[in-house]
Amino acid sequence: MKRVGFIGWRGMVGSVLMQRMREENDFALVEPVFFTTSQKGGKSPDIGKGKETPPLKDAYNIDELKAMDILISCQGGDYTSEVFSKLRQAGWQGYWIDAASTLRMGQDAVIILDPVNMPVIKQALHDDVKNYIGGNCTVSLMLMAVGGLFEADMVEWMSAMTYQAASGAGAQNMRELLLQMGEAHRVAKDLLDDPASGILDIDREVAGTLRNVAFPTENFGVPLAGSLIPWIDRDLGNGQTREEWKGQSETNKILGRTDQVVPVDGICVRVGAMRCHSQALTIKLKQDVPLDEIEDILAASNSWVRVIPNQRESTLKELTPAAVTGNLTIPVGRMRKLAMGGEYLSAFTVGDQLLWGAAEPLRRMLRILVE
Ligand code: HSE
Repeated sequence: MKRVGFIGWRGMVGSVLMQRMREENDFALVEPVFFTTSQKGGKSPDIGKGKETPPLKDAYNIDELKAMDILISCQGGDYTSEVFSKLRQAGWQGYWIDAASTLRMGQDAVIILDPVNMPVIKQALHDDVKNYIGGNCTVSLMLMAVGGLFEADMVEWMSAMTYQAASGAGAQNMRELLLQMGEAHRVAKDLLDDPASGILDIDREVAGTLRNVAFPTENFGVPLAGSLIPWIDRDLGNGQTREEWKGQSETNKILGRTDQVVPVDGICVRVGAMRCHSQALTIKLKQDVPLDEIEDILAASNSWVRVIPNQRESTLKELTPAAVTGNLTIPVGRMRKLAMGGEYLSAFTVGDQLLWGAAEPLRRMLRILVE
């Protein structure tokens, strides 16, 4: 049995990974060892089925890490930067599976999303590539939804306008969103309770608290509740954010396209959803393919995508963060040909950012390695 070391299993992505691995009985296939950056010698998490695991090991101890066949890190980019090259310099030949973006674009790394790029992963394993990195959540969720069109080489370019959940910014940001919602409600509560109050008076109270210096914005920097933030991640200095840059660079890397790169661009926006990212896509097709054929291609492209009829009732019921949260299903709907012509397709998709956007590709990569 392969010895598999887990780092960062207590954080948000790590906790979802643990939950999914328990649900799928993945721990039965490996010898798990848990590492910690702060509680060496402490008790390892319960992985169910009575399976015993050794006490927590030091996540900075290169010799302990080197004893593993596979390491899975959800600890974040700073940890990867600190430890990864030391491990390789120390001669470690094991497989490194990581949720952080640090190593993603390296020549010696593959971005993992096996329902979309299994051939790329298989080729990399054959070529003895050892680094398998989870993709950016928006990109992974977009490809889970419309990867079938890329696979069929039908896409000339794509614009993705995103509606990204608080979870993408971190656990503290999710808490802050709820604090902000609570504060907005608190200041309006008395007026809300009075059916005779005027909506503009309510709105004035809410706007006042959003702009108040005491409003809780330590993590987001500005209000998200009752507002949105049209900027995610670093400024690349060319008007584009790093999150927007990832759209094209990671999509093409996942698909293994190095020569004919498909342009992908758009504006990434943080909205007040908890853990589901949504995206409005405009896809320029290479040809005017009938809508029903497009729907058939997408529906058949993987086991998780669901084509939602472009109707009000099914859209409201099935194509929202509230409907999708906690599920692996990837609904894609609002599909129609746009007024610009038969080659212009619209689509809207929603996906759980912590599942397919983060933890799920990691545990599936582990399965690929150990089965
Ligand atoms: N960068 C993403 C976000 C998180 O901010 O929503 C996961 O890739």
